[in-house]
Amino acid sequence: MSAFNGGVLLRTLVVYDSSYGNTEKVALAICSGMKEVGLSEVECKRADAVGDEDFRKSDVWVIGTPTHIGGPTGDAKKAVKIASKIGGAGKSGAVFDTRFASVSKGGSQKIQEMMEKAGVKIVVPAEWFVVEGTKGPLVQGEEARAVTFGRKVAGAIRQK
Ligand SMILES: Cc1cc2nc3c(=O)[nH]c(=O)nc-3n(C[C@H](O)[C@H](O)[C@H](O)COP(=O)(O)O)c2cc1C
Repeated sequence: MSAFNGGVLLRTLVVYDSSYGNTEKVALAICSGMKEVGLSEVECKRADAVGDEDFRKSDVWVIGTPTHIGGPTGDAKKAVKIASKIGGAGKSGAVFDTRFASVSKGGSQKIQEMMEKAGVKIVVPAEWFVVEGTKGPLVQGEEARAVTFGRKVAGAIRQK
């Protein structure tokens, strides 16, 4: 399958924060789902390690965060602020979070708002992945669902 859209190689940046490793597992699974369907240029980076250039050179921004007190973490927000300064016009995006099963509000909502404000086109609805407790683990089947989400995002950016 082609990694091209209109003849242009799509570079994807998946950015995540993670205190206990669960959101990291989800992010890596999303990356592998995207690669499975032919996106070769997929980079997965921690939120505290991304800079302007990472966002600038990417066409697709996928950002994920653990849910802390109903919202995103500070580092996840910082990463989106870096992205916002560059401006999201012409960029595609998707967001995800990890959270407890019982809550309806997660960190991805705020991240999506910030990205949309920056002009990013969100190509699929936000997705969340459930942890059993504060330190995890992820509920069984959630990593597999993350792979599926990665494939879905990849499909949506091709149809853009
Ligand atoms: C300070 C703190 C606040 C949290 N608040 C929430 C919350 O409001 N809602 C929720 O569903 N989970 C909450 N959690 C649990 C996180 O969702 C969970 O720790 C996270 O998904 C694990 O991901 P990580 O391993 O990538 O850090 C909180 C965790 C911490 C440490």
